[in-house]
Amino acid sequence: MLYIGIDLGTSAVKLLLMDQDGKIEKIVSKEYPLFFPKPGWSEQRPEDWWEQTRAGIKELTAKCDKSQIAGIGFGGQMHGLVILDKNDEVIRPAILWNDGRTAKETDYLNEAIGKDRLSECTANIAFAGFTAPKILWLKANEPDCFAKINKIMLPKDYLAYQLSGSFCTDYSDASGTLLLDVKNRCWSKEMMDICDVRKEQLPALFESYEAVGEIKAELAEEFGFTTHVKIVAGAGDNAAAAVGTGTVGDGGCNISLGTSGTIFISGKEFRADEHNALHSFAHADGGFHLMGCMLSAASCNKWWMEGILKTEEFGKEQENIIKLGENQVFFLPYLMGERSPHNDPDVRAMFIGMSMDTSREEMTQAVLEGVAFGLRDSLEVARSLNIPISRTKICGGGAKSQLWKKIIANVLNLKVDVVESEEGPGYGGAILAAVGCGEYENVQAATEKIIKVVDTIDPDVELAAKYEEKYKKFRQIYPVVKGLF
Ligand code: XUL
Repeated sequence: MLYIGIDLGTSAVKLLLMDQDGKIEKIVSKEYPLFFPKPGWSEQRPEDWWEQTRAGIKELTAKCDKSQIAGIGFGGQMHGLVILDKNDEVIRPAILWNDGRTAKETDYLNEAIGKDRLSECTANIAFAGFTAPKILWLKANEPDCFAKINKIMLPKDYLAYQLSGSFCTDYSDASGTLLLDVKNRCWSKEMMDICDVRKEQLPALFESYEAVGEIKAELAEEFGFTTHVKIVAGAGDNAAAAVGTGTVGDGGCNISLGTSGTIFISGKEFRADEHNALHSFAHADGGFHLMGCMLSAASCNKWWMEGILKTEEFGKEQENIIKLGENQVFFLPYLMGERSPHNDPDVRAMFIGMSMDTSREEMTQAVLEGVAFGLRDSLEVARSLNIPISRTKICGGGAKSQLWKKIIANVLNLKVDVVESEEGPGYGGAILAAVGCGEYENVQAATEKIIKVVDTIDPDVELAAKYEEKYKKFRQIYPVVKGLF
């Protein structure tokens, strides 16, 4: 049988076709625009997601035996606010995970409602990108739109709704709304009241590997599929990526170097850190995870390469970087503000430490290192919880760079296990579809069979020690520049 994994990302939707043994048959990527209507705002049109997904499904399956397609699963950008009216029309563009307009609402939730209360109800505190502050922002700033809301959903759920008609989400993605009682896997009544939202406006909750319905007959006909194709709930992109790298069960770690940068720690049991610096979310395997999220990771490199240096030759620009651990230039990767661990939507990126002889290579290197230092900030929180982490998997577009993986291994002082494919969320989505169709008994059984580590990058003692010193300096910069912007 064949399974489709749909990774609804921020720059593009990536669709992946996988056979029952986990072999990737084909990958298709379709871009759509991202809008920044004001500094720090970030929006996309759900209609664009659907249009490109629909075109992508056709391209992906053009040459395969369509009668073999059994299921479709998802990994989706998290936290985005998608709202539909009573006619199922999209009311306004989706407000995305990296949108920083909700500083006021985030402060209100954390201060007036209080972090303790939020943490009790949801296991998390408010971060500007989360969905609940966006709902409050909408109520205060666009009351007409707020009044029209009939359905609230997350980005990938809009695709599941179009494909199956099922108004659903999964626990991992729902965790990032700040409306879910993560520990008890149910919507929080108290949070619904705080956000003035009714349960009927929220999607039905599923485990990521559960089928939510079957493909609509008219779409089955359009795509040439049978009408028995199962639509499986899927997961937030980080949980899906963790499945796609085999980071399930207890004690796994995965780093995703996509538009965002995340460090994801899986566990069977629920846990939360005392200050909620890391997110405590449900995992796609039925368990839980802790996660730190940087808002700009591979996107920093993309901005620097394409936006500033005006080149697309990422590899060539990295070829001359040889002096690791000795760079005097630091880059703070806060192009869209920062989530973990600072929770500061207003901070901005900066280069610091240049001199007359600073070279282009050193600045490129500083960008790669700055992202690694940002990930290390979240890893330090996990270490402070006595979670033993000595190795990590890695995925996402940035993981294609051997140099960046080496920098990460040494800055974080972790062994970095490289899996066969860095297509984390799409692969995870397809694996979840296979589990939802009964191809595998559960998520862990599927990943044990499918995911293979093909290389490990070990940190080098001397280099890790040099980076330790650099990281101590990096840590001193944010407290000094905080509040400047
Ligand atoms: C996670 C987060 C990002 C997005 C990126 O909390 O906001 O990783 O999911 O797509």
